[in-house]
Amino acid sequence: MTSPRRLRIGLIGLGRLGSIRARILQNNQPRLEFIAACDTKPGAEKWAAENLASTVKFYADPADMMANSGIEAVLISTATATHAPLILQALDLGLHVMCEKPISIDVITTEEVMAKAASKPNQVFLVPFTKRYDESYQVTKKMLEDGTLGEVHAVETHNSDQQEPNGFFVAFSAMSGGIFVDVGIHDVDIARYFLEPTKGIANPKKQVNRVFAVGQQAVYGALAKTRDADNGWGLVEFANGKVFQLHVGRTLTNGYESATRVYGTKALSAINGNSAINRVEVRDQYGVRTQTTPDAFTLYDATFTKDVGEFAAAVLDGSKLTCSAEDAYEAAKIVVALQHSFRLGQAVYFDDEGRPILEALPAQ
Ligand SMILES: NC(=O)c1ccc[n+]([C@@H]2O[C@H](COP(=O)([O-])OP(=O)(O)OC[C@H]3O[C@@H](n4cnc5c(N)ncnc54)[C@H](O)[C@@H]3O)[C@@H](O)[C@H]2O)c1
Repeated sequence: MTSPRRLRIGLIGLGRLGSIRARILQNNQPRLEFIAACDTKPGAEKWAAENLASTVKFYADPADMMANSGIEAVLISTATATHAPLILQALDLGLHVMCEKPISIDVITTEEVMAKAASKPNQVFLVPFTKRYDESYQVTKKMLEDGTLGEVHAVETHNSDQQEPNGFFVAFSAMSGGIFVDVGIHDVDIARYFLEPTKGIANPKKQVNRVFAVGQQAVYGALAKTRDADNGWGLVEFANGKVFQLHVGRTLTNGYESATRVYGTKALSAINGNSAINRVEVRDQYGVRTQTTPDAFTLYDATFTKDVGEFAAAVLDGSKLTCSAEDAYEAAKIVVALQHSFRLGQAVYFDDEGRPILEALPAQ
């Protein structure tokens, strides 16, 4: 049964992604009523007055918005390091919660959030992973399910942002958990989606044997201060023997690219080999050229409408979600391990409880 009413929602965080969420939420969403927005940064109120509908009330304090605006659900689109306290507060206030990936920048805090979400079974909790809402990934998943791909045994991804001349990535690094955590979590999640790491293993908790990562500061030397990289490569060996290889980056000059290859015994699916903005090819004295998407927000624009729609339907009608909290937790452990491996210069192994064994880093 589909509920006829709309879900009253508030948005916290009006930054790069939050401003896109705001545009989508106020664009005649059939199942959502966008009534409140919040950001703590100076100038946010002015931005809200100029860009949000008069029916959306602005708050400078997230606690005030969550307690007093009349919302039933909240979409958290703030810097990653601030997600966990906001999620915990929202769940305690009885709100349904959708939060951008990742839940946190570390495993222990992620576990605290998981426990709180599990203690509130009547409240919906969604951490959406963009690629799962993209048509090409869904088509590939169907090919896996109907046997077209055969046995899927490996996944490779490339995911790289365009260079940012103002150094956004350097300032962003401390709050994002580092490149493997921030960017790589999308790729780890989609690898798990195709490699089905719980299938064929004796201990369902231990889904990963080991990971190894390397990285470099090819353009942004200042990232060394936060032990971060602008290009990173990682290998993940799952306990079921399947293998995932990723490259994450921040230094492309043509735009944003994100490609995935899913290797099956009968077929290979190559998704988005060219992250072109449309299907136009210019043929001139330079050869054949396409225009690249400038950023992930453009490439995946449609997914940011689909996931909020799914969230609303889950609250209003009790329908199923594409991404579970466990998916977010499992992906979080792997990206934290990759980031740590890069910082440590050694492989990181997983224990029988499925947690990465994080040896102390040498002093910097
Ligand atoms: N799914 C995707 O493809 C995707 C893409 C980009 C970003 N993200 C995620 O979205 C989140 C936001 O990323 P962004 O690029 O928009 O970051 P951003 O830095 O541009 O924006 C974050 C905003 O949150 C505000 N903020 C921070 N703490 C706050 C608090 N406690 N209360 C209220 N406002 C607060 C900041 O003032 C800022 O305006 C991150 O967690 C990131 O990982 C997801």
